Amino acid sequence: MKGIILAGGRATRLRPLTSITSKQLLPVYNKPMIYYPIETLIKAGITEILIIIAPDYSGHFLNLLGDGHEFGAHFSYAVQKEPKGLADAFIIGEDFIDNDDVTMILGDNIFDQDFSDEIKGFKGGAMVFAKQVSDPERFGVVEFDKDKKAISIEEKPEKPKSNYAVVGLYTYDNRVVEYAKNLAPSPRGEIEITDINKIYLKNGEMKVNIFDTLWEDAGTFDSLLRVGNIMAEKEKSKQ
Ligand code: DAU
Repeated sequence: MKGIILAGGRATRLRPLTSITSKQLLPVYNKPMIYYPIETLIKAGITEILIIIAPDYSGHFLNLLGDGHEFGAHFSYAVQKEPKGLADAFIIGEDFIDNDDVTMILGDNIFDQDFSDEIKGFKGGAMVFAKQVSDPERFGVVEFDKDKKAISIEEKPEKPKSNYAVVGLYTYDNRVVEYAKNLAPSPRGEIEITDINKIYLKNGEMKVNIFDTLWEDAGTFDSLLRVGNIMAEKEKSKQ
């Protein structure tokens, strides 16, 4: 299983913080944000990791993270010139993924759970994680039938069919690369990971794991502050 951390984008919502560095290098309490997705992958047993970054501040990532040996992992890097969409990660990462399965995590998604059982148990197709939220219209939304079987996935629907958000941690078999290459851009001009998920769902090859532990998309001032406070409490309770 290979790992990809998607840590590009422009992060205009976090200006002026992101006028001096990348969003994924901003502090979340006592460490840069990207440490969290790195730790989530490593905890799940994934140590071969491609970090996709934007051209601006790319040197900062290399200085901070290097080749990964301090984390007991191996990092490689790729630059995404334009934020073309989440699914672009699989096109950029084609050679890196090679013939393997791949787990992608978004560089601003923060979890506090060990996903190793699910990820090590991956048997092909697609696997996503979903959590109940109060504002599903901001996310990919998955709808279930009465047996908790996923029946639809929509990207930022105006009228969400459930309050389960699909979070930024995705595991796919190798076909994801071909699926990504054949996607058409959405109305917002991006190739959408939700469109990849729709393909697997339609083929009956989509597993959705519901979870209920911490998840924050740290892409706004409020969520950045909230998750920083949560991590501060957690660190202090260890002392
Ligand atoms: O956070 C989970 C959500 O992430 C999912 O529920 C949605 O289905 C999924 O589309 C995505 O929604 P967002 O609107 O939050 O995605 P956003 O465009 O903010 O990108 C997420 C992160 O990925 C962001 O930190 C920047 C990075 N990114 C984004 C794009 C489009 C890249 O590195 N390259 C890109 O091309």
